[in-house]
Amino acid sequence: MEILDPGSPMALAQRVGEVFTAWTGQGPEAVVRAPGRVNLIGEHVDYNGGPVLPLALPHATYAAARRREDGVLRLRSDDPAAEDWTGAVADLAPGAVPGWASYAAGMVWAMGADGMADGLAGGLDLCVTSTVPTGAGLSSSAALLCAVGVAVTECLGLPLDDPLRDRLVAAGVRAESEMAGAPTGGMDQTVAMHARRGELLLVDFADGHRRRVPSSFGAAGLSLLVVDTRVSHTHTDGGFAERRASTAEAARVLGVEHLARATPEQVATLEDARLRRLAGHVVTETGRVHDAVAALEGEDWVGLGRLLDASHASLRDDYEVSCAELDLTCEVALAHGALGARMTGGGFGGSAVVLLGREHLPGVAAALEAAYADRGWRPPHLLLGEPAAGAGHC
Ligand code: GLA
Repeated sequence: MEILDPGSPMALAQRVGEVFTAWTGQGPEAVVRAPGRVNLIGEHVDYNGGPVLPLALPHATYAAARRREDGVLRLRSDDPAAEDWTGAVADLAPGAVPGWASYAAGMVWAMGADGMADGLAGGLDLCVTSTVPTGAGLSSSAALLCAVGVAVTECLGLPLDDPLRDRLVAAGVRAESEMAGAPTGGMDQTVAMHARRGELLLVDFADGHRRRVPSSFGAAGLSLLVVDTRVSHTHTDGGFAERRASTAEAARVLGVEHLARATPEQVATLEDARLRRLAGHVVTETGRVHDAVAALEGEDWVGLGRLLDASHASLRDDYEVSCAELDLTCEVALAHGALGARMTGGGFGGSAVVLLGREHLPGVAAALEAAYADRGWRPPHLLLGEPAAGAGHC
């Protein structure tokens, strides 16, 4: 059984620093990291004003940066598939930057728009390396945005306190929506900036309230297995934006500010059957998040597993964002001893999260590989969801 290694933070920080120095001929002013995330439960509710319960992954993006004096932004990734990008800070604008660089440049642009990056008119060299799988629903994009954000603040000598972290979350959401064309709901950036090691982060998007929930999985002999189906999803291709628009329409019809706060009785009054199903998911998922926190705190693992299963069924049948690979992953995991399993993240491919006793890990991994091979699919990638720290200095 092969588990995707998050790498040693010290070694990765050193490596990105060395790549930076070889590239620019000078050492970096800042070396930082920001994590990917896996959402335990609370899917497609952030943009509907509801609660989510994600954790940061040990897999992270590392960035090294130094200010320049000629107004130029230069971006490099050590991923051979990602092209370097160079342009003027003053020319950054939506639509001006293609590919991966739209996220990194987008963050610089959004921080400028917020007044956070006033000291950056002179420009920046920045390079990144990452152990967060891309296109896997594990928020490699939020990890990149937040790594850039923290690198910039560190170059500018700004103290990374909670209010600044909140501003970086907002800039990340803006960069991802306006520069990269992916209308994210904010969960990914929030957990990347605010997570702490050993904890899940309950965030209520009605009012932004955050509560930390200690993870007791390890002590109970349980693991969170993350299964990357390797079916690539992208949030810029319409499905995500369509769900967002449809649920906004449901909220408008019901006359509520946050769809997640609607009652089942209100949802039942929606005349359009599809809107009723979408809104039904949002409202029932909201209840499941609160029940999941109670199950976690009461160490009711069977109950928590059932909530994960119910979440998956709702995302598959009512929200219609699952796919054959995710459905099979959950079925196989449950048939081989898992307590619960669900798709995680935006869907349409990406990853599933499986709650299971540690002793079942090898059996579930082998069964998944066999099931994927049977269908002629590439073997899935496996990661362990051990709650890691949010973005910061290396
Ligand atoms: C993506 C978005 C998040 C959230 C999830 C679904 O990851 O970026 O804001 O909406 O999908 O829960």
